[in-house]
Amino acid sequence: MDLRHRPQYHFLPLANWMNDPNGLIQWDGVYHLFYQHHPHGPGWADMHWGHATSRDLVHWTHQPIALAPTPGGPDADGVFSGCAIDHDGVPTLVYTGVRPEVQCLATSDDELIVWQKSPRNPVIAGPPEGLDVTGFRDPYVWREDDGWYMVLGSGIRGQGGMVMLYRSADLYEWEYLGPLIEGRIDETGHNWECPNFLPLGDRHLLLFSPQPFRQAHYYLGEYAEHRFSPEAHGLLDYGGLYYAPQAFMDEGGRCVCFGWLLEGRTEAAYRAAGWAGVQSLPRELTLAPDGSLQQRPVIELEALRRDVVHIANRSLEGETRLDDVAGSCIELCVELDPQDAGQVGLTVRASPDGDEATTILYDVERKELVVDSRAASLDPEAEGRRATAPLDLGDEPLALRVFVDESVIEVFANERICLTARVYPTRDDSVGVALVATGGSARLLSLDAWRMESIWSSR
Ligand code: FRU
Repeated sequence: MDLRHRPQYHFLPLANWMNDPNGLIQWDGVYHLFYQHHPHGPGWADMHWGHATSRDLVHWTHQPIALAPTPGGPDADGVFSGCAIDHDGVPTLVYTGVRPEVQCLATSDDELIVWQKSPRNPVIAGPPEGLDVTGFRDPYVWREDDGWYMVLGSGIRGQGGMVMLYRSADLYEWEYLGPLIEGRIDETGHNWECPNFLPLGDRHLLLFSPQPFRQAHYYLGEYAEHRFSPEAHGLLDYGGLYYAPQAFMDEGGRCVCFGWLLEGRTEAAYRAAGWAGVQSLPRELTLAPDGSLQQRPVIELEALRRDVVHIANRSLEGETRLDDVAGSCIELCVELDPQDAGQVGLTVRASPDGDEATTILYDVERKELVVDSRAASLDPEAEGRRATAPLDLGDEPLALRVFVDESVIEVFANERICLTARVYPTRDDSVGVALVATGGSARLLSLDAWRMESIWSSR
């Protein structure tokens, strides 16, 4: 296996393929992260549920495979995505078995390590009669006063994606209540994957990942009488490499979300490397005072910070290389006042001669955050891109938190916008950081930079 480019503080399995986060739950204080996994190869195939546990959402312990396909069973062709719930004290996984797509249950009577599949699987044997669906998978289940509810990802052929709503008294017999929401094929694709539906403040949050796009959407809105009225819409991440997120409420009442970070290199390159797929940092989701969605990395990640460098109050014009700040595993916390500059931001993972670099720039006029990784690597197998996100700063300074972790660059802007890039620099000295102001001068209000400790090193 090729260890180059492997993140040090983002979760990934020891080897091979990973995609969606699954079954996120905190149980007796312990966080459980399950994930779509091919344990025998670096490409998507033969889906299993991998498993890891943590006490702080940051440091993880690899656990044995939780679910594997059962030959001859309803999941013989794959154990697809799903969720974890507390069924009156019994840890329970609800997932899609393939093929055709059906819904299944598994329970554990130990520390959530060993799982037994229900002999009554599948508990939902197929889509409702008369519906011509494009998909029927990825159950997300919660409890209300009058029973269990489930959303499933789906779509109506020729029309668009859809989220289906089901109800059950016992998790075994399910009744289809109808669509919770439907999309238009020309706007949000033909099939919606991985719906999540949960309360956030006084609103409800719906997450879904529409095919064929590699984007995770959200709606915030009102949920009453089992009807959802969406009010606000956006993307959880604008980088085009963050997909199929799962959010859950932890024991402290925090809404925490992980998403799958796709590779930004060719399939030949990740197959040769022997590993593919990374989980995003755990993000806490909250509502801003104006009711909009906020995302910030969970506070526990601050435990990884080492060797702070602090710089404040500097005028910027052009590119200002920071001699004291460099690295391939760092966090940067930067506040910039654009003043009369047209663009302001920074470059990371930059080589001394500028042959390789990734830029993170705010465009004042366009009110856009731009992350450009097209020059991140000289390797033709690396697929750099220019990604943009809408960001209206109003009177606020630009407040960036940038997490550089080998091949991952995860950017949080003003706690509102996230944009993740994957980069694969070829040169060992592509570790430089510079501040940038173009078309005028800007002011650096403050910068804090840390080296980030690996989550796998002993503490
Ligand atoms: C999303 C997805 C899900 C499915 C799983 C299969 O990335 O396609 O819809 O359950 O991955 O691995």
